[in-house]
Amino acid sequence: MNHLVISASLNPESNSRLLARAAERALAAAGYAVAFADLRELALPPCDGAAAYSHPHTARARELVTAAAGIVIATPVYNYDANASVKNLIELTGRAWENKIVGFACAAGGTTSYMSIMGLANSLMLDFRCTVVPRFVYATEADFAGDAITNALIAQRTEELALSVARYAQALQN
Ligand SMILES: Cc1cc2nc3c(=O)[nH]c(=O)nc-3n(C[C@H](O)[C@H](O)[C@H](O)COP(=O)(O)O)c2cc1C
Repeated sequence: MNHLVISASLNPESNSRLLARAAERALAAAGYAVAFADLRELALPPCDGAAAYSHPHTARARELVTAAAGIVIATPVYNYDANASVKNLIELTGRAWENKIVGFACAAGGTTSYMSIMGLANSLMLDFRCTVVPRFVYATEADFAGDAITNALIAQRTEELALSVARYAQALQN
């Protein structure tokens, strides 16, 4: 059973990428096969509802999503939402998301956007019947320093999130 961690931030000094790497490490350490999609490297065309679906990077993204039973989305919070890059990825890959188990790890500026991932969570549940793991990570700038997650609770929650995604995927496999 394969799992996928998506790092959605395009910022070279991203905090959510640190969460993504921590989730990847937790899955690998527990013996799961895990792929990592960094949207800084897998540059996707803007979804136009037409030619962008045929772009080779779109095809690669679709392959990665299709192959995964569980998906951890690590995203920045932008304008009280996930960032546009991950929404674009989902627009481009659409039905590949059907019935996936999804967990969210969010990096935000402050605490007030705590519920901001619910729009994307609802859309994945209602559009694609994803099962959203009822545990998510919400970290603020205070939880990081340089290349490190300095808040041990956030590190622990990220590991728990990743392992929960894998457990749900195992339990709900067809
Ligand atoms: C365009 C933009 C919009 C943002 N909107 C929010 C927001 O609504 N709520 C919030 O808490 N932080 C917001 N922030 C702060 C980011 O969430 C924060 O910098 C976070 O670390 C970004 O994730 P990253 O480091 O993985 O790129 C915003 C930042 C940018 C650049």
